[in-house]
Amino acid sequence: MSEWPQVVQSPEELMQRAKAFAAKIRLNLSQKPMVIYLLGELGAGKTTFCKGFLSGLGYQGLVKSPTYTLVESYDIKDDIKDDIKDDIKDDIKIYHFDLYRLSSPLEAEEMGILDYFHAKAIVLIEWPEKAKGFLPKEDWQVCIDFQENNLHRLMNIKKINQND
Ligand SMILES: Nc1ncnc2c1ncn2[C@@H]1O[C@H](COP(=O)(O)OP(=O)(O)OP(=O)(O)O)[C@@H](O)[C@H]1O
Ligand SMILES: [Mg+2]
Repeated sequence: MSEWPQVVQSPEELMQRAKAFAAKIRLNLSQKPMVIYLLGELGAGKTTFCKGFLSGLGYQGLVKSPTYTLVESYDIKDDIKDDIKDDIKDDIKIYHFDLYRLSSPLEAEEMGILDYFHAKAIVLIEWPEKAKGFLPKEDWQVCIDFQENNLHRLMNIKKINQND
């Protein structure tokens, strides 16, 4: 497992780091989705990370928190950056989940959550713990922790070995 721990000092810096992460990772989506779990308390910066991530892929539109809708979908075909176009042979979809409001993990199954995990999908999930047992394993974990200074966060991006 590889890890990239980093102290971020503002929301702007966290967005910037997420943007750089999105631009750097290889999007190898030919056979399976890319799954990113976002872990951290309320207000830690998970949605902020998603905004930066989408912007790093070239998306320029509005990013809304899926707090009430559970999921927001993004089609980035028209925005996608030239230098990552080659990684993405076909159209890809980004799904951003916030499962905080699920009343039980079974509800995730009932909403057909697995349908979102198709081979052309990048799936970012806030509060994956709420659907424990009903989600595919993650490729990446982004853990964000508060630090004593209100503006500082410790963000750790971990690559997860799917065979573990
Ligand atoms: N270093 C920082 N990184 C990220 N956000 C920060 C930082 N410092 C302060 N903030 C503020 O913390 C808040 C983070 O909100 P955000 O919606 O990203 O959290 P979240 O983890 O998605 O919470 P929730 O679980 O409620 O969805 C924002 O208001 C942001 O301005
Ligand atoms: Mg959020």
